[in-house]
Amino acid sequence: MKVFVSKHKHRFQNITAITGAGISAESGVPTFRGTDGLWKNFRAEELATPEAFQKNPKLVWEWYLWRRNIIESKSPNEGHKALVELEQKHSNFFLITQNVDGLHLQAGSKRPLEIHGNIFINRCVSCDYQSKELKIDSKNLPPHCGRCNSLLRPGVLWFGESYEELKLNQSIFRMQNTDLLLILGTSGAVSMPVYLAQIAKEAGSLVIEINQEETPFTSSADLFLQGKSGKILPELVQEILSV
Ligand code: APR
Ligand code: ZN
Repeated sequence: MKVFVSKHKHRFQNITAITGAGISAESGVPTFRGTDGLWKNFRAEELATPEAFQKNPKLVWEWYLWRRNIIESKSPNEGHKALVELEQKHSNFFLITQNVDGLHLQAGSKRPLEIHGNIFINRCVSCDYQSKELKIDSKNLPPHCGRCNSLLRPGVLWFGESYEELKLNQSIFRMQNTDLLLILGTSGAVSMPVYLAQIAKEAGSLVIEINQEETPFTSSADLFLQGKSGKILPELVQEILSV
């Protein structure tokens, strides 16, 4: 790591990180596909799709309230905090996360681009009402919008839904203007981060991946750091910030 960073550091003007569930694993938030992965116990098709919500909004809400409860009891780990330090001390850092757990915000990241949304947002299926503060009554599911009485849904992207155009364009633009891309704790099981990493690579960015195991990113990464992000990422950030 030391040799790699000191050799290329002069190029690290614009740094971007893409994070996945692996960065929250050490906070105790189950990943999606690991041995304790969330999907292991549920079929995604049953829960995180517009069709599932259409068919049984109460069941989908029960699952999301269960997930909110798990996440509310967790806190950011050293990996999240290292990215906050990088944002504070490096002149041009941008964070894109697939995670909906809000732990980057809780750690102090100012502007994480939550491309899959945020599990604590409640939004109306019809009007533009949305709120993080609204407390959902688990005995009165599914909740309805106070403005137009349509159903409320969790403010997350579901399988089969398309990405918000603005977030997608922001991410693509950023990939075209990045000198160093950090890919942190994501399996590449969904295509978006793989697509973004290709754009960055083609635009000449260096790529460093941190993961416990090899992924579709690993073969094209300039540096693969195998292990836990909570341990490796703080060391990497110190190297990058060391003058
Ligand atoms: N440190 C680093 N990497 C880790 C750690 C850790 N402590 N723990 C797990 N990982 C890695 C795993 O090896 C795996 O590659 O994190 C990755 C987690 O992969 P997934 O569970 O597939 O999560 P993610 O890549 O974020 O999934 C992407 O898929 O289901 C959708 O919307 C959901 O945002 C999610 C997307
Ligand atoms: Zn409404």
